[in-house]
Amino acid sequence: MIKAVIFDLDGVIVSTDELHYQAWKKMADAHDIEFNHEINHRLRGVSRMASLEIILEKSSKLFSQEEKEVMATSKNKDYVSLLQSLSKKDILPHVKEVLMSLKDKGIRVAIGSSSKNAKLILKQIGLLELFDVIADGNDIIHSKPDPEIFVKAAEKLGISSNHCAVVEDAVAGIEAAKACGMLAIAIEDARKSNLADYKINDLRDILNLI
Ligand code: BG6
Ligand code: MG
Repeated sequence: MIKAVIFDLDGVIVSTDELHYQAWKKMADAHDIEFNHEINHRLRGVSRMASLEIILEKSSKLFSQEEKEVMATSKNKDYVSLLQSLSKKDILPHVKEVLMSLKDKGIRVAIGSSSKNAKLILKQIGLLELFDVIADGNDIIHSKPDPEIFVKAAEKLGISSNHCAVVEDAVAGIEAAKACGMLAIAIEDARKSNLADYKINDLRDILNLI
C-alpha cells in the first residue's frame, strides 16, 4: 500500500532545464569548452559537481579541484539569478491538481531532488508549503542513481521505503528508486528505463495507480 509519493523536482514539477543550460553555457564559453543542448540533456538528475565533470569531458585542459569549485560556484551564481524569473507559470501541467488529489486521499507528498536550490525553486513557484517533506541536494553525499535522496525523504516522512512511490523524469532516478525498494513511476525521458514499474504520459495517470 502506497502511503507517500516522492516527486523529483526538475522535469516533474517544474522545468529548469533551459536555465541550467544558459548558466552552464556561459561558464563553458568562458573556458572555450564545447557545450550544447545534447550535453545538457545528460545532466538531468546529476549533481552540480558531477555535471561539471561531464562538461569537462570536452576540455583538453585539466583543472584543479579549486578551479572546478570556482567554475561550479560561478555557474550557480548565474543559475540562481536566472531562477529569479521563475514563477507559478513555470509549474508543469496538472502538478497542482495531482498534489491536491493525493493529499485528499491522505497520501503524503514529498520532494526528492538532487538540487541544492530546490527550496528556492519551490518558493519561486509558490509550492514550498504544499509538500510535507523536502529532501534535496543539501541532505545527501551521493546523487542518483544512488538511492540516498529517496531514503532520506522516506526517513523524513517516517514511512518505510516499500510504502513510497517515486515519480521521476530521469533514468538515474528510476534506478535510485528501485535500489531502495520503492515503486518507480517514469515520466518523459525516464520512460526509457526498463526498471520502471509504470510508465506514464500525463502526471494525472498517477491517480489511477495509487
Ligand atoms: C537536478 C537537475 O535536479 O539538480 C540537474 O536535474 C542539476 O540538472 C542538479 O545538475 C543539481 O542542481 P543544483 O541546483 O544543486 O546545481
Ligand atoms: Mg528530473
